[in-house]
Amino acid sequence: MVATTLAAGFIKHGYNVCLGTGHPEKLESWKAQQGDKAAIGSFADAAKFGDLLVLAVKGSAAIDVLESAGKENLKGKAIIDTSNPIEAAPPVNGVLKFFTNINESLMEQLQKEYPEANFVKGYNSMGAPLMVNPDFGGTKPTMFICGNSAQAKNEVTEINTLFGFDTEDMGPAEAARAIEPLCMLWCITGFTANKWDGHAFKLLKRG
Ligand SMILES: NC(=O)c1ccc[n+]([C@@H]2O[C@H](COP(=O)([O-])OP(=O)(O)OC[C@H]3O[C@@H](n4cnc5c(N)ncnc54)[C@H](OP(=O)(O)O)[C@@H]3O)[C@@H](O)[C@H]2O)c1
Repeated sequence: MVATTLAAGFIKHGYNVCLGTGHPEKLESWKAQQGDKAAIGSFADAAKFGDLLVLAVKGSAAIDVLESAGKENLKGKAIIDTSNPIEAAPPVNGVLKFFTNINESLMEQLQKEYPEANFVKGYNSMGAPLMVNPDFGGTKPTMFICGNSAQAKNEVTEINTLFGFDTEDMGPAEAARAIEPLCMLWCITGFTANKWDGHAFKLLKRG
């Protein structure tokens, strides 16, 4: 869902996109709707194709998918990491369970495994329908990002601006320990009140 939503957003803003998948047949109708700027391929095809990559798979599958994508195809590239380390177990009173702990995030694990790729956490703590130019009556929601590469964060900040967000750079990869659990907070009203598409985070600042 995140992959097809963001891919459609990139296409809307003039980019060419290749979606990587293990199940190309599931994406044929999506591709037909998007026209000639959309392509579908293996994870390696998509990683080779992209100047900027997006990781949008189940958190528990992230390492396997990156391995299929191929280390060489990830090297030196910015990778927007939308994934969340959600446990298979159901939420408790609307609160998701994570398979990571508060002192080590999923993105740090991915960054350690692929030191030559430039992961940037983002697009993990709002619902997919709000990821591209969401309408909050003129107010821009905040996109919290973090990562070790300033260049990669600049590239992602440009995309955030195109997609209608203000960016808050929270620093290097360790900040993903704080950004990933925002997903838990965002989802509570979804699970408890079935509200999935009307709220986003905004950082208020003085001065
Ligand atoms: N849904 C949201 O609103 C939302 C919002 C923010 C963040 N996120 C996060 O974004 C990520 C993607 O979420 P989603 O809702 O888009 O999930 P989704 O619709 O279930 O898609 C996940 C994709 O992951 C791939 N995948 C799953 N298990 C795999 C495995 N073992 N090996 C290889 N590929 C596997 C599958 O790709 P193929 O079937 O194509 O092979 C699947 O289509 C998750 O980490 C989620 O927590 C979701």
